[in-house]
Amino acid sequence: MRQFSLASLSLLASCVSAQHIFNLSDVSWTVSNGVNATVPGKLPSHAHIDLLAAGVIEDPIYGFNEWNQFWVQRMNWTYTSGPIKGLKSQKGLTSWLVFEGLDTFCEIKLCNQTVGNTKNQFRKYTFDVSDILPKCSGDPVLSLNFGSASKIVLDIAQRSDLEFQGRVYMRKEESDFGWDWGPQFAPAGPWRPAYIVQKAKADPVYITNTAIDIFRQGQMPNLSPDQSKPFVFNASIDYIGTLPKNTQFHLKIVDSKGHTLKEASLAGISQSNGTITGNTVIGNNVNLWWPSGYGEQPLYTATLSLINSAFSKPATVTKRVGFRTIVLNLNAITAEDKAKGVAPGASWKFEINGHELYAKGSNFVPPDILWPRVNQTKIKETFELAVNSHFNMMRIWSSGAYLPDWAYDLADEMGLLLWSEFQFSVAYFPATSDFLEEYEAEVYYNARRVNHHPSLALWAGGNELEYLIYGWWLNPRDNPQLENYETIFQQHIAKCVYANTHSISYIPSSTYHGYTSLDFNSVSPQTSRYDYMESPDALYADTDFYNYDGTIAFQYSGYPVGRFADEFGFPSMPSVYSWQEAIPESEFYFDSSYVRHHNRHLSGGSDFFSSSAGGINQFTDSIKLWYPLPQLQDPVANFTAWTWTSQVFQADYYQAQIAFYRRGSGLSNRQMGALYWQFNDIWVGPTWSSTEHSLRQKVAYYAAKDIFNPVIVWPFYDEATDVLEVWVVSDLWHKVSGTASFKWVDWQGNALDVDPPVHVNPAHDGSFNVKFDVQPINATRLVTYPALSTFFACKNPTSNALLSISVEAGGYTHSTFFHPQSLRLNSIADPGLVMTKSLRGSKAQFKITATKGVAAWVWLDYPTTVRGYFDQNGFWLNKGESRTVTFSVWDDWSKGAWINDVVLRSIYDNVEKS
Ligand SMILES: *[C@@H]1O[C@H](CO)[C@@H](O)[C@H](O)[C@H]1NC(C)=O
Ligand SMILES: *[C@@H]1O[C@H](CO)[C@@H](O)[C@H](O)[C@H]1NC(C)=O
Ligand SMILES: *[C@@H]1O[C@H](CO)[C@@H](O)[C@H](O)[C@H]1NC(C)=O
Ligand SMILES: *[C@@H]1O[C@H](CO)[C@@H](O)[C@H](O)[C@H]1NC(C)=O
Ligand SMILES: *[C@@H]1O[C@H](CO)[C@@H](O)[C@H](O)[C@H]1NC(C)=O
Ligand SMILES: *[C@@H]1O[C@H](CO)[C@@H](O)[C@H](O)[C@H]1NC(C)=O
Ligand SMILES: *[C@@H]1O[C@H](CO)[C@@H](O)[C@H](O)[C@H]1NC(C)=O
Repeated sequence: MRQFSLASLSLLASCVSAQHIFNLSDVSWTVSNGVNATVPGKLPSHAHIDLLAAGVIEDPIYGFNEWNQFWVQRMNWTYTSGPIKGLKSQKGLTSWLVFEGLDTFCEIKLCNQTVGNTKNQFRKYTFDVSDILPKCSGDPVLSLNFGSASKIVLDIAQRSDLEFQGRVYMRKEESDFGWDWGPQFAPAGPWRPAYIVQKAKADPVYITNTAIDIFRQGQMPNLSPDQSKPFVFNASIDYIGTLPKNTQFHLKIVDSKGHTLKEASLAGISQSNGTITGNTVIGNNVNLWWPSGYGEQPLYTATLSLINSAFSKPATVTKRVGFRTIVLNLNAITAEDKAKGVAPGASWKFEINGHELYAKGSNFVPPDILWPRVNQTKIKETFELAVNSHFNMMRIWSSGAYLPDWAYDLADEMGLLLWSEFQFSVAYFPATSDFLEEYEAEVYYNARRVNHHPSLALWAGGNELEYLIYGWWLNPRDNPQLENYETIFQQHIAKCVYANTHSISYIPSSTYHGYTSLDFNSVSPQTSRYDYMESPDALYADTDFYNYDGTIAFQYSGYPVGRFADEFGFPSMPSVYSWQEAIPESEFYFDSSYVRHHNRHLSGGSDFFSSSAGGINQFTDSIKLWYPLPQLQDPVANFTAWTWTSQVFQADYYQAQIAFYRRGSGLSNRQMGALYWQFNDIWVGPTWSSTEHSLRQKVAYYAAKDIFNPVIVWPFYDEATDVLEVWVVSDLWHKVSGTASFKWVDWQGNALDVDPPVHVNPAHDGSFNVKFDVQPINATRLVTYPALSTFFACKNPTSNALLSISVEAGGYTHSTFFHPQSLRLNSIADPGLVMTKSLRGSKAQFKITATKGVAAWVWLDYPTTVRGYFDQNGFWLNKGESRTVTFSVWDDWSKGAWINDVVLRSIYDNVEKS
């Protein structure tokens, strides 16, 4: 369990001195559509936020407000400042407008003079306004006229079933136009901070961006570096203003205790067009940064200074950095690996500081429909949940938005690797020269901005792009869009990334079959493999797998065999606690048009509501196959039970898939990662998420935490062959030895007389132990039941037989239950759950005991008067077993009284009581 503080972050704000910087958040703003709405504004903001604050619109995510508020995205919104007081006015000043982000189409006017037009949400813009300011009559006024993105780019009807169209023709967050987990608001506004910067002749230049690249000498992206080589520190600063030729570029790195690691003038200085670059060798005497679960996260503070006698003081910038190498290794399987049983083809694995890493985590989507509302607390809590569930990686999916620096700072502190992507998602993008210029500016800015963060793990060109190239084409080379794809992602963006980093690997697409050659001197450095295979048994790609047929959900033979799983999942309902934020309680039933409105899978059919019902039926149909069906007369209680059961199915499915992928680390596919879809929610609706919009956790969150334990035991049953195999899997970097305990019981907790499959130390009641070893990042088969049904005599019906399995190895324990039959067909007995509660400070403890029988999917719900998370939930208990569950509090609005409202359930509550 780890708690993180925000305190250290305040030190990180880039401190630049001497120029006069006016923060445009400090002036008053009004926002108007020039027609029927004029309200006070803020900066940063979106029009929706200011309209909501002024009471002109209601909570956008409530009820049908998404549709009611289409008018907002169909209008221009002009942000007009009040008179800007306090600017300098002496002669010889240079003044700039600096925008960290404008969303998206914006005409900028200062004192009624046009300054410029922008059309890319993801760029930082600077405008020289030195000539305009002196001509203003009175205090300057700034106006930002934001066009309607949907109007400018699309000519579509005001219906969300057209959600995906047109989004490729603008550089704006694509999910703003709806996705299969989120609504369409297409907000507009100055979404990131903005400044007026003024510089006198003797003031130093103003730093607009910094690219720090820390790598092992000789390292090239995508290739495993020589770990014995010293670290090299490359620094590059982008600035506005004039930098005299003989400027000294100085570096000082101190550790967290304030000890200086290195102080030097950088060598190899090159200067061009607003950029200065230099480097120095740091050596090997550094504390390495490791992802969570594998070591500490030592961080250093690097201060860069540009020193020149023409400046009254140096221009300085401070960034927090770490020392590590991270590579996505897509190289051919070596002879040495083949000797270990690895199938031919190519690897698809991350290596941190030269160690193979089994990547565990999920996919992150925009945490809110309106980014300016996303604060550090929300991201900190999100990442805290992630690392507390054994994640070492999160994939920052495109196409949301690039994360701000402070989010990477949090990930640096917590040891969470961030697989990052450029904002291009599963579509065909234009490759005309004007678009290529936009992509270049955007990629340069963002790749340079975040390169210094040790948590940055990878750059992918975008989401599922190669998947789309393959989609409907037997031979991807026949796809007429292939040329544009290659121009953008193989040539243009690859070149922009490689020009800025030695330390970070690049792949053109999140799903990727890798390359047949890598040549950094070529215009197309990676020659994509596509469908070329060296032999029929060769394996290359990562997998992206969805199957909505609940009948085969637990059929392992249907899961994809690949090298890495970067997406897989199944939707579930949010809890009733979250539904309360989004729909009236009278609508708490599955067929409600409100519920259907908030569901976007399936969407795109001609009738929105029937498409949505089709998606919802996928999980009701699955529930009906696998769990006892709640039939409660009280509609809210019934809805509560069904929404929860949909979460149990999702959790069950995620555990089975993650266990399957992890076992692959010990099979010939040498599977090296499992990132489930998706971690978080943008609003309240049925989605694949494991945490809801408020970060309330679904059952899948805890199930994934359980199955991401470093050492796990898991039963793999194949119904077709009637074979049960039990495996233990470890992703530790050292070999572990341990013991597994097996025990057949019925729901009442009585031991069953089932023969062990192997005669290893069988006890009289059919329980037995197996000793095992697991190699580093590997798996070991513990037992095989060749024909499972034959192990059951008539006295042990499979509907009342459970195999309780637990392992202990390497300081870790893990346990699970195998039930040969669907729980739907099981004779589930009353487990006699008893709960005691206690509260100490910000931690509450709940002790749960199964007094009468085996308890399945024991679940605690906390009320809305508190926010936080449990350390475990959704577990099974043997008869007589107790668990003490701890709740960590984020917010408590009840002065501790919330613990009285914590409620307990298990799958037994679904069983109809006679
Ligand atoms: C403003 O006008 C649009 C139609 O042009 C309308 O849909 C919207 O409800 C109006 N908003 C207010 C606040 O009057
Ligand atoms: C702003 O400039 C336009 C012409 O560019 C002019 O028509 C308008 O009156 C000016 N507005 C103000 C407030 O000066
Ligand atoms: C709406 O905004 C766009 C983009 O800034 C601009 O080009 C256009 O002139 C604006 N239209 C109006 C009526 O203000
Ligand atoms: C220098 O920067 C300007 C503005 O960003 C750009 O238009 C120009 O092409 C750049 N020149 C070179 C040689 O890179
Ligand atoms: C996994 O462990 C087995 C022994 O249990 C060994 O034969 C195999 O080579 C190992 N796999 C790898 C990739 O090291
Ligand atoms: C951060 O955002 C959350 C909503 O996600 C809000 O409840 C909270 O008050 C905000 N915290 C601060 C310090 O602004
Ligand atoms: C409970 O909810 C389920 C799922 O929507 C529904 O099929 C069932 O009819 C409901 N039962 C009652 C008694 O309302």
